[in-house]
Amino acid sequence: MSTTITSQNRSSESAVQARENLYRLFKERPMKDDELLVNLAMFMRSGSLAKILFLNEMYQKIIDLPGIICEFGVWMGQSTITFENLRAVYEPYNYQRRIVGFDTFSGYTGIGDKDIPSEIISDGVYSVSQGYEHYLEELLDYHEKENVMAHIKKHSLIKGDASITCKDFIEHNPEVIVAMAYFDMALYEPTKNCLEAILPRLIKGSVLVFDELCHPNYPGETQAVFEVLQTRNHTIRRSKFLPDRSYIVIE
Ligand SMILES: C[S@@+](CC[C@H](N)C(=O)[O-])C[C@H]1O[C@@H](n2cnc3c(N)ncnc32)[C@H](O)[C@@H]1O
Repeated sequence: MSTTITSQNRSSESAVQARENLYRLFKERPMKDDELLVNLAMFMRSGSLAKILFLNEMYQKIIDLPGIICEFGVWMGQSTITFENLRAVYEPYNYQRRIVGFDTFSGYTGIGDKDIPSEIISDGVYSVSQGYEHYLEELLDYHEKENVMAHIKKHSLIKGDASITCKDFIEHNPEVIVAMAYFDMALYEPTKNCLEAILPRLIKGSVLVFDELCHPNYPGETQAVFEVLQTRNHTIRRSKFLPDRSYIVIE
């Protein structure tokens, strides 16, 4: 499923075909595991590199703010782990910069009438293998242990419908300030509910990041943003690295 999702995106047919060559070169790589891990970028396409640069661009905006990072829609966890490592790079001693990832870990559920059903927007798309969240938790633990202040856990994965789990999380953590919220679920209902839940915990400078704003295939996300936020009171900018990713810095 992940291959279908990643290769269908906005790539031309010829690019998808050429990618088969990359898969072959990756499989046939004449290098050992430790060599692979220090040379991973050799296999990273420019689009994937742009995604990392975009996450870095967003992270840099919150360095002087207190608060946690919420990621709504984790999938495999690449962004979650990138945030963990950006924390280690930019603010290794900021043990309060918790990264909290919300996902069903069983993909999309309950597509509403404000969303457009498609090959991507269908129940179960983006599901991961059974128990994947435990694997991801272990991987996050590994990265944390490599970094300083390893004895303080600074990440959590919260499994379930984020419409419910986010509200619950906010209620049970009255100290939480949200420095950054990354909305990557594409759907109306959970985007709206999570935005409403975190709204009282935003401060001036908090960054709200949106993956599918203004995207004709995912109108639900835009509608949720317009309904919850007084959008004309906010400047919405787009990322320097990815043309379809937008963000609002709360003023
Ligand atoms: C596009 S993927 C996220 C990609 C991830 N942010 C990344 O950067 O790799 C969308 C994710 O949203 C999750 N999702 C969709 N609806 C959800 C809901 N109501 N509650 C929690 N997670 C949800 C799906 O399970 C899926 O993993």
